[in-house]
Amino acid sequence: MNIADIESLDHEGRGVAHVSGKAIFIEGALPGERVSYTAFRRKPTFENAHADAILKASSQRVAPRCPHFGVCGGCSMQHLDPRAQAAAKQRVLEDAFWHIARLRPESILPPIIGPSWGYRRRARLTVRKVEKKGGVLVGFHEKRSSYVAVMDSCAILPPPISALLPELKRLVASLSIPDRLPQIELAVGDTPAALVFRILEPLTPADEDVLRAFADRHGVHVWLQTGGPDSAALFHPADGGWPAYRLPDFDVTLRFRPTDFTQVNHDVNRVLVRRAMGLLGVRPGEKIADMFCGLGNFTLPLARLGAHVVGVEGSAPLIARAKENAVLNGLADRIDYRVANLFEVTPEALAAWGRFDKMLIDPPREGAVELVKSFDEGAPSRIVYVSCNPATLARDAAVLVHEKNYRLRAAGIANMFPQTSHVESIALFER
Ligand SMILES: C[S@@+](CC[C@H](N)C(=O)[O-])C[C@H]1O[C@@H](n2cnc3c(N)ncnc32)[C@H](O)[C@@H]1O
Repeated sequence: MNIADIESLDHEGRGVAHVSGKAIFIEGALPGERVSYTAFRRKPTFENAHADAILKASSQRVAPRCPHFGVCGGCSMQHLDPRAQAAAKQRVLEDAFWHIARLRPESILPPIIGPSWGYRRRARLTVRKVEKKGGVLVGFHEKRSSYVAVMDSCAILPPPISALLPELKRLVASLSIPDRLPQIELAVGDTPAALVFRILEPLTPADEDVLRAFADRHGVHVWLQTGGPDSAALFHPADGGWPAYRLPDFDVTLRFRPTDFTQVNHDVNRVLVRRAMGLLGVRPGEKIADMFCGLGNFTLPLARLGAHVVGVEGSAPLIARAKENAVLNGLADRIDYRVANLFEVTPEALAAWGRFDKMLIDPPREGAVELVKSFDEGAPSRIVYVSCNPATLARDAAVLVHEKNYRLRAAGIANMFPQTSHVESIALFER
């Protein structure tokens, strides 16, 4: 039997131990625990393993709430108390700053914490017909596998959506194309939930009746997607309109297509936006850039506070929606939206957008290294960087601090994805 004493937690939520000088990354094990484990991947310098038995348990260990935990790939940290999860993520962020950039934030911001369960407003569920598992499956992928988990509930989805999972299986099984419907995407705003059915073949009139009845019975909006994300179109109710969410602190409403990028956790997003505005210290009349602006989640609050905002985003359809949202909220005269690939931005292109007093940066996982490398003497005096990947944040922070004369004033995490190892964070740079 292999036995290990767990020293720490890695960025994927695995317990880390050293046995005979070799690092062992053990799923399901927590710092301070002694576990027996089985390795499923052996390399000369490390092994990946899963815990078989917990021989000495951490005081922070809790019983996973979800019956599918351990099989379903959706969550990896349900066995750790949510407060300890936030502390572990804070450590991942600080470690990334230190190991990648040799930086320590001058101050640590209090973590932004929201509900631990039922928070996930967007999800892509895979649909597959597997006769030997009882027919149609609807759910997340199993851990490290392309199989779909057999699941009848999900504790991180909003409860009414979780309750729909068995209904969705029956619904798909009753259609004429159960094996030509690979995915159901869901988006829950402050409006009725939108379910987008990806269909590879046309529906029959009978299928359409079944879908309409389903939407009416459950009070959801059904969309159909025949091609790429922008082909998604509202099917029923025909006058249902688009989903929308509100940021009440800033009196703004954002309408979106259910396939658009929106922040997954609305409670945490509201606090995150408020914190970003506070850290930027927005004053009326300032010129502020919102880089990777999406639909305008930060742009509209910035404009509401009186700033003149340039929002830059790579997706033309998202910018079209962002412009509509600016009009909807009566803020179009303070916002200038542009479509640009920020992974290829040059100092000249950046200068052509104007000089900014301040900047908000909220990139995808890849980060924003070309953008920060493009800064010259006229770069903004204050930057708030919102990140979903501590490694690229730290890499970009190294450029800002070691090459561009900024100070890393503060940083902290937002527990945007409780029960998972994903780390969302926010950092303030000044020069
Ligand atoms: C983390 S999201 C943030 C969106 C928005 N700030 C929000 O809070 O909803 C990152 C955004 O970057 C955009 N994006 C991805 N790659 C890009 C690129 N190379 N250039 C510009 N924008 C890009 C995505 O379309 C997405 O809207």
